[in-house]
Amino acid sequence: MPTPQTYDWWYDDARQVGLDFEDEHEVATYDARQGGSAERDRALLTQLGLQPHMAMADIGCGTGILAREAAGMCRSVTAIDVSAAMLAAAQARAGGLANLSFQRAGFLSFEAKAQSLDLITAKNALHHLPDFWKAMALARIFAALKPGGRLYLRDVMFAVPPGELAEAAEGWIVWLSENTGYSRAEGACHVREEYSTFAWAIERMLTDTGYRIVEHVQDGVYGTFVAERPAS
Ligand SMILES: C[S@@+](CC[C@H](N)C(=O)[O-])C[C@H]1O[C@@H](n2cnc3c(N)ncnc32)[C@H](O)[C@@H]1O
Repeated sequence: MPTPQTYDWWYDDARQVGLDFEDEHEVATYDARQGGSAERDRALLTQLGLQPHMAMADIGCGTGILAREAAGMCRSVTAIDVSAAMLAAAQARAGGLANLSFQRAGFLSFEAKAQSLDLITAKNALHHLPDFWKAMALARIFAALKPGGRLYLRDVMFAVPPGELAEAAEGWIVWLSENTGYSRAEGACHVREEYSTFAWAIERMLTDTGYRIVEHVQDGVYGTFVAERPAS
């Protein structure tokens, strides 16, 4: 699995792109804005088949709601994020659970033994990387998964023809500002400065990497993939 030490041209994924998740105010208000829920994450992890003997990682863990719930359900959880401020919030939430560890790293720099993880989750985080690097990240995740292990990937990704992109992006920004704690300016910043891509591009990256797509659900601009590293 290539690491930042392997090549001098490697992308520095520690730098914040778009919204600054090192900003203390951004982190302190994150849960209220995002509307995360421990109950929903627990139900998701159950649906994903997380079991007591399993090891998993959550990449781009944010304030650690999902990682905290996962720790109550499986053998070990690694909560990974590039933001020290987010990790501090996640650590405070965890309150010293023995099977939950933290790594300050990103999709392109996290460390995990090859074929060691049963499940990797990445919610609303992969869009921080440009597409070339998303593919690199998906390959690194593939290397860390056990055969038969699964990736749960949820993010903003567009599933409309290019001629309808402007309408879809504008519709989403308006919806965000009217229905969530995010402002129009924050939605606009996401579209302009972050790297949300097409659902078909993510699908192709997954299949070209070798994943088997178990499920793809598209709910407006929110896409969810469950993808498996084939058992053989
Ligand atoms: C929108 S938040 C999502 C947090 C959480 N997964 C959730 O669903 O609430 C995006 C998170 O991704 C992190 N992030 C940004 N760039 C990243 C990268 N290259 N690798 C891993 N995490 C990254 C940010 O620091 C932030 O905590």
